[in-house]
Amino acid sequence: MEAATFILFGSTGDLAKRKIYPALFNLYLDGKLPTAFSVIGLGRKAVSDAEFQSRIEQSIRSFSRRRVQDEAGLKTFLEAFRYSSLDIPVLGDYSRLLELVKRREAELGIPENRIFYMSVAPEFFGTIAHSIKESGLGAVTGWKRLIIEKPFGRDLTTARELNAKLAQSFEEREIFRIDHYLGKPMIQNLEDLEYTNPILQALWTNRYIANVQITASETVGVEERAGYYDHYGAVRDMFQNHMLQILMMLALQLPKHSTADNVAFKKKLVLESLRPLSKEDVRLNVVRGQYTSGVVEGKTVPGYTEEKGIDKASANDTFIAARLWIDNYFWSEVPFYIRTGKRLNEKSTRIVIQFKDPLEKPNGKNMQAAPNLLIIEIGPEAGISFQLNLKEPNQGEGIEPIHIRYSADQKDVPEAYEKLFRDALIGDSTFFAHWDEVEMSWQWVQPILEAFEENLVPLELYPAGSNGPSAAHKLLQQDGYQWWLDP
Ligand code: BG6
Repeated sequence: MEAATFILFGSTGDLAKRKIYPALFNLYLDGKLPTAFSVIGLGRKAVSDAEFQSRIEQSIRSFSRRRVQDEAGLKTFLEAFRYSSLDIPVLGDYSRLLELVKRREAELGIPENRIFYMSVAPEFFGTIAHSIKESGLGAVTGWKRLIIEKPFGRDLTTARELNAKLAQSFEEREIFRIDHYLGKPMIQNLEDLEYTNPILQALWTNRYIANVQITASETVGVEERAGYYDHYGAVRDMFQNHMLQILMMLALQLPKHSTADNVAFKKKLVLESLRPLSKEDVRLNVVRGQYTSGVVEGKTVPGYTEEKGIDKASANDTFIAARLWIDNYFWSEVPFYIRTGKRLNEKSTRIVIQFKDPLEKPNGKNMQAAPNLLIIEIGPEAGISFQLNLKEPNQGEGIEPIHIRYSADQKDVPEAYEKLFRDALIGDSTFFAHWDEVEMSWQWVQPILEAFEENLVPLELYPAGSNGPSAAHKLLQQDGYQWWLDP
């Protein structure tokens, strides 16, 4: 792996503290960072290198998935970090940064390979990208890459505006858009799961699959992010990105040993086949919900509009459920049900594939067999299970659903950010969101945004701690189905 400099905008922020430094540290422990690497943190405040390094040490001690066992190793790791104050709108600050970057490249004898990571509010993305170009920071003899995090815009228009700004300074192949769900091990596993298991491959078609359910339920509310969340809601915060990415990763059919370009291309095909919704369709296929007060994990919590910083009259969505179809040869007539929401009764992200029941009932017997389910647990625990039917050996006649389960050992599972940083370092964009996907997802979601805005879809209230509004259950009942595994 080539040596590189990691230039982090927003280095004193929460994401850096909780996720970025611990991820870099774990990559370092695994020997997955280049032997010589340099990290330069940026922020408005003046902070000395020593103080910066001590903050990183704190973050690692508090948030790393693995405890520090080798103090000398930690010290060597921290020596790679430098800090420079930078006021985003001030071009002169970028020239100062360039001097520091070059000085470190010379000290370490590393090539001009630079990764810029924007861990700042999206309104600054354009200015930073522009200043990287203007200051000469982007004029490298090696390679340059840009990592950004969602939100990539707030709707189709703003996403396009943002992309046009980034495109002035970075080529598409240089932009790595993080959707951290794509870094989750079970999402990265989906293709292998299908490919290496002939029993699944044989059944992986609309001939045998009745429906697919994707759920991302959370117990948390808006937390400290009221300002952001009330402006975005579940559809922009989770659905347009994480949920549609899971859908794409599940529904694409890849050739073996596919490259990042294959994956991007196939994902685009999935979105092209996604049946567009008119605003009228939205009313029939999408449920919009908001939580009221209730009890979550034994604690009474306020309703959404009673949360600090939320407009009392807010009609923002904290829950969305939708029915979608992929109109291609492979998936036609298989409904996909997707739901996500805050303040639900459990923290769980999973995919459930319900298989059809093509069997005749055994003659004369009143046997009620449950459907076969393949359950892919994406988080918080990674695992997989199968629901089959069996006549209880000790208890006579009745057929019972049984589960065959596998759960991964959590402490060994790398965090999404570790995988994604490593991929960005080696220039592999397979598990990142490419512009076409982002644009087409916004395009698909746009009628939902408009229908919500125009109040064409009723706002269904659900008590915190429940499994969502009843309308989300009716959506499946209309088709003769139910959400599986609701506690
Ligand atoms: C983020 C959303 O992208 O994902 C948050 O902005 C949400 O609102 C989070 O809580 C969920 O991520 P995870 O990995 O905990 O499922």
